[in-house]
Amino acid sequence: MGATIPAGNGGDTGKQTMGSLFKVSPYMVIPSRVGGFSLFLKQEDAYVLYAEKGELFTEAHKERLARLGVDHLYVRAEDYRNYAGYLQENLLDIMDDEAVPVRERARAWNDATVSLAREAFETRLPKTMDKRSFARIRALITNSLRFLAREDALRELSRFISEGSDLYKHGIGVMVLTVSVLSSYVKEDAELMVAVGMGAMLHDIGKLELPPELFARRTDTLSQAEQDMIRSHPALGVGVCSSLPLPQEALQCILFHHEREDGSGYPSGASGELLPSYVKVVALCNDYDSLVRGGPNRKSLSPFEALTRIKSRRGGVEPELLKRLIAILSKAQIA
Ligand SMILES: [Fe+2]
Ligand SMILES: [Fe+2]
Repeated sequence: MGATIPAGNGGDTGKQTMGSLFKVSPYMVIPSRVGGFSLFLKQEDAYVLYAEKGELFTEAHKERLARLGVDHLYVRAEDYRNYAGYLQENLLDIMDDEAVPVRERARAWNDATVSLAREAFETRLPKTMDKRSFARIRALITNSLRFLAREDALRELSRFISEGSDLYKHGIGVMVLTVSVLSSYVKEDAELMVAVGMGAMLHDIGKLELPPELFARRTDTLSQAEQDMIRSHPALGVGVCSSLPLPQEALQCILFHHEREDGSGYPSGASGELLPSYVKVVALCNDYDSLVRGGPNRKSLSPFEALTRIKSRRGGVEPELLKRLIAILSKAQIA
C-alpha cells in the first residue's frame, strides 16, 4: 500500500471524486491473475492504493481483504475498460465460484456485459460490426450459460439489468430472459443456446441504421413511409451482421423477432407453425422487455401489466411459451 488520493479531491465534494472512481467487488481479486488496473481501498477520507496496475494478485491479497472486512474496492475511471476486460476474461471462473455470493457474481456479470455490449453497439464500423466485439460477445454468452440457467441468477441480475432504455441494455435484457426461458427446456444444446443468445442480444442492432428520432416518436404520429422504415430494422440488422460468422439460428432471431404466432407480425407475417420455437422465445422476451423497460415515448409497465398486455393480444403468442416465461419470472420473484 502506498499512494493515497484524498477523498474529496482536496477540498471539492467527495461526490466529485467518486465520479472518477468505480466501486468494485473485493471478490473480483482472483489469486494468480494480473489486473490491468490499480485497485484502491477507501480509508476514512482517502483512497489508498491497494494493488498496483499490472500486479499479480495473490492469496495474501485476498486474505488481507477478508481480514480488513473490505466491502468495496475502487477502480479509476481511466482503468475501467481494463477492469471490464479482466472480468470478461475471467468470467467463467467468477461465475462458477460458489464462494462468491450470487449477487456479487450478478454484479460482475453485469459490469462485464454492459461494457461489452455498449462497445459493440456504439463503436461498430459503419454498416458492420467489429469482429473482435463479436468474438467477445460469443465468448461471454458461452461462459454465462451455466450461471444464467440458475434459478437465483435472474432475480439478482434483474437488479442490474432492468434500468435504462438504451438499445444495448434492452439487448442484454432480452438475452438474459431468452437464455433463462430456453434453459428450462433445451439446456443440453449449448451451441443452440449461444446462437440464440447472440441473436437475442443483437436483435435490434438494425435500429442503429435508422434516424434515432423515428423511435422517439409515438407510432400514431408516423407516416406510412416512416412506419415502413421502422419495420425494416430486422432486415437491416441481418445486414449489419452479414460479415460475421453468425449461426443461422442467430440470424433467424434477428430477422423474425417481430413475428407473431397468428401471423400478424413482420417482416414475413409467418405464423407460428413456420417459426422455430427459439425465435418465438426471443419475440416473446423482446415484447416483455420492451414493455417493462419503456422508452422515450412509452412509460414502463410493471411485470404484471406487461404480462397482462401480452396475454390480451390473443393469438399473438404460444400459450405454452408464455407459461414458461411466467414461471421463470415468478421463480425469480419478479412477477
Ligand atoms: Fe425490434
Ligand atoms: Fe427489441
